[in-house]
Amino acid sequence: MKTTLSVIKADVGSVAGHYKPHEEMLRLARRRLSEAKETGIINSGYVQSVGDDILLIMTHSKGENSPDIHGLAWSIFNEVTEKVAKPLKLYAAGQDLLSNAFSGTVKGLGPGVAELEFEERKSDPVVVFAADKTEPGAWNLPLYRIFASPDNTAGLVIDPILHKGFVFQVLDLHENKMVDLKMPDELYMLLALIGTPGRYVINRIWRVHDGEPAAATSTTRLSLIAGKYVGKDDPVMIVRAQAGFPAIGEILSAFTPPIIVNGWMRGSHRGPLMPVSFKEGHNVVSYFDGPPRVIAMGWQISNGRLIGVDGEEPADLFADPFWDYTRMKCAELAIYLRSMGEFEPARLGEEEMEYTTLPSILESLKDRFKKI
Ligand code: F6R
Ligand code: MG
Ligand code: MG
Repeated sequence: MKTTLSVIKADVGSVAGHYKPHEEMLRLARRRLSEAKETGIINSGYVQSVGDDILLIMTHSKGENSPDIHGLAWSIFNEVTEKVAKPLKLYAAGQDLLSNAFSGTVKGLGPGVAELEFEERKSDPVVVFAADKTEPGAWNLPLYRIFASPDNTAGLVIDPILHKGFVFQVLDLHENKMVDLKMPDELYMLLALIGTPGRYVINRIWRVHDGEPAAATSTTRLSLIAGKYVGKDDPVMIVRAQAGFPAIGEILSAFTPPIIVNGWMRGSHRGPLMPVSFKEGHNVVSYFDGPPRVIAMGWQISNGRLIGVDGEEPADLFADPFWDYTRMKCAELAIYLRSMGEFEPARLGEEEMEYTTLPSILESLKDRFKKI
């Protein structure tokens, strides 16, 4: 029987501005997931936060896009908003719940979703990544390194299964179109697209060997749904590992040279994506509301359940002191980019700024512009 791993996230309010969700929000979400486990809607569930976002990570046998699972996440985010975030006047309470018209899916309503349904192998390690202060295109460069660059993933050269390559599905978020590209044959075409991460976003990856799903990302851009800036899209991603997929170490190594991503402060700046532990004190944003950060949670999917290092508690894959090196580089880059103030490339380009609060400034100057 197939197992589905669903990761659904939303920013429904936080303490001290956009710093961190309140513990009571996380406790309520945990209670609801354990009830859902008892009633058999899910097999297992785990709640975590990254920056100001709440993550619900669930395994079940209902397949991708299940109205039961999406409905569960939707009701938890709404309840957390109404029972905790609003009464405590937390900042941006209910921010990512853009509509109250739930009709079986949270897609297009604000929360981010990544789901992967697969037949469990003899042993099935997975990594779930979650990032704050960035957008779904932030995964483009690491996914290219993991599944298409032999400089990152030795297995692409050495392991006969990986050697056959991977198919990348890329979405065009502006035109609502998608295309499948086969690696390594169509590598240059892939790079031509995904180098523009604000528009072209890797959505799914399969391996060529047997069509097994390898990775899935969340691809929502709230600004493109709402037509204006409503907070960043803070993406999530699922990657399967080992025995015919990239090793955990190959997957993590893709985050070593700092990746500059879009979406920092006011969704309007570029900054380095800092790999951090999800333990207290690491998994919060502070410097200029950032810098953008990513956590990595490792599990085994075993008999339909999440097995971590202790019950459902996942391996904290960026806790290794090795990552201090990348963190320090990221801090240097963050400070350097900030030294440029409001100049590109530290600030996003004009096209991306269309989806922020900048248009209202331009509007106010409209009549003062004269023909040259
Ligand atoms: C929120 C975020 C922040 C805010 C910034 C301004 O996820 O990215 O950088 O955009 O703190 O927020 P407001 O306009 O709510 O004061
Ligand atoms: Mg927020
Ligand atoms: Mg956020």
